Amino acid sequence: MKVGLFDSGIGGLSVLGRLLESFPNWDYVYLADTFRSPFGTKSQKELERIVMEDLEFLIEEKVDLIVAACNTADSIMEDLPKLPVPYIGIIESAVEAVNGNRIAVLATEATVKSEVYVKKLGNRETFQRAIQPLVAVVENNPRDFSTMDSMLQEALKEVRDWKPDEVILGCTHFSVISDRIGKFLRGVRIIDPAVEVTKRLRDINGSGSGKVLVYSTSDVEELKKKVNSMGIFGKVKPIYRQVNLYEKSDSYIGAIGSR
Ligand code: DGL
Repeated sequence: MKVGLFDSGIGGLSVLGRLLESFPNWDYVYLADTFRSPFGTKSQKELERIVMEDLEFLIEEKVDLIVAACNTADSIMEDLPKLPVPYIGIIESAVEAVNGNRIAVLATEATVKSEVYVKKLGNRETFQRAIQPLVAVVENNPRDFSTMDSMLQEALKEVRDWKPDEVILGCTHFSVISDRIGKFLRGVRIIDPAVEVTKRLRDINGSGSGKVLVYSTSDVEELKKKVNSMGIFGKVKPIYRQVNLYEKSDSYIGAIGSR
């Protein structure tokens, strides 16, 4: 079983980390589209192009399955052509885990604007809070806990005051620091979509050789250093490569729809 994942950077590693814990023998291709990070400030049109190119890259890598590792990308998936391989959504997985009635969603600007969470949460009361600057801090300096804490302190005050039953970490960069976020939301159930999407795979029987390929669309050495400082892979030794997706021609885009 070869699983493909992509994100604007290190956020989706929260999903890959969970998958590796549950399915260490599968093979993985992870694309960090760092050249076009962040995704959350992009328009719907820009996002569609980026997401199509990233998906197409994974399909060309011959993955059997794509697991969403980015909420922002997942928020526009319903507007894209059908993929030739199965795709497991992260937003839907998170929404399925909801039990309460007052649900707060922390996400990127684009995800909040898309209102996908609000729509999927149906009749429940919702409160969305975009914390886009936190994405950049987690991405650029995953050990800068003091900046993260001051941002969280400010952003989560109004979330706490709203008294949610549950809070969804609707951006995988927030999943990377879920424990930290939890400290500011004591007593509130936190739903981590990175955990929930992994649960959706438990009935799949697959084998592989435990190979992990990590691609970056910008400086791969920089990504490697960052990932090493986070200790996310444990004993697994990923192979790192660089790829320049943005130099592909327009005809490349749309190949998914024509298959
Ligand atoms: N990690 C992503 C998400 O889950 C995207 C963050 C960004 O690039 O703005 O939404």
